[in-house]
Amino acid sequence: MRPVWPLRILPGALLLLAAGCDDMSKQHKENPYASTRSAPADVAQGSVEYHDAPHPAPALTLALLQRGRSEYDAFCAPCHARTGQGDGMVVQRGFPAPLPLATAPTRSATPAQLYAIITSGQGIMYGFAQRIMPDDRWAIVAYLYALRRSQYAMLAARPALPQAIRP
Ligand code: HEC
Repeated sequence: MRPVWPLRILPGALLLLAAGCDDMSKQHKENPYASTRSAPADVAQGSVEYHDAPHPAPALTLALLQRGRSEYDAFCAPCHARTGQGDGMVVQRGFPAPLPLATAPTRSATPAQLYAIITSGQGIMYGFAQRIMPDDRWAIVAYLYALRRSQYAMLAARPALPQAIRP
């Protein structure tokens, strides 16, 4: 009599099972408590090491302003809007609206105060010490001034026009 088919595949199934019973405790794996590496090497790719220590401002250049604009648009515009008006998409969905960035009190804040707000947050706004690198925070501070200028420029502060384009 021929064995019924489950019996025919039984030896193979047993073999597979035995192979699967490899001792998993002996497999290579990461053990965080056994690690002797220092923290910076462990920082995952794409994340920013927590950094809220004072950091000197980089030189003000056009490249810094452009960097500030792209960082602002990515991290701040969701709430503050690209214009700084305070009606970004998150606010339109119910988050409390901040005051327009081009008006008081941001208007009278010093660069160091703005840097501190970005680093540690203020009121219900969370800080960005873990999300934005220090140089990029300074870049945003510089861009906040450009944003303010774009909306509250005083005619008297306008640089003298070259003779050729004067009306
Ligand atoms: C999740 C929404 C949100 C994001 C994202 C956000 N903010 Fe804010 N921000 C707020 C709110 C709300 C306030 C008002 C906080 C308070 O006083 O309770 C505020 C306050 C501020 C202030 C102080 C303004 C004042 O009236 O005193 C500054 C400056 C500021 N934010 C800059 C930024 C910058 C720069 C970024 C990006 C790096 C940013 N914020 C990202 C919501 C946000």
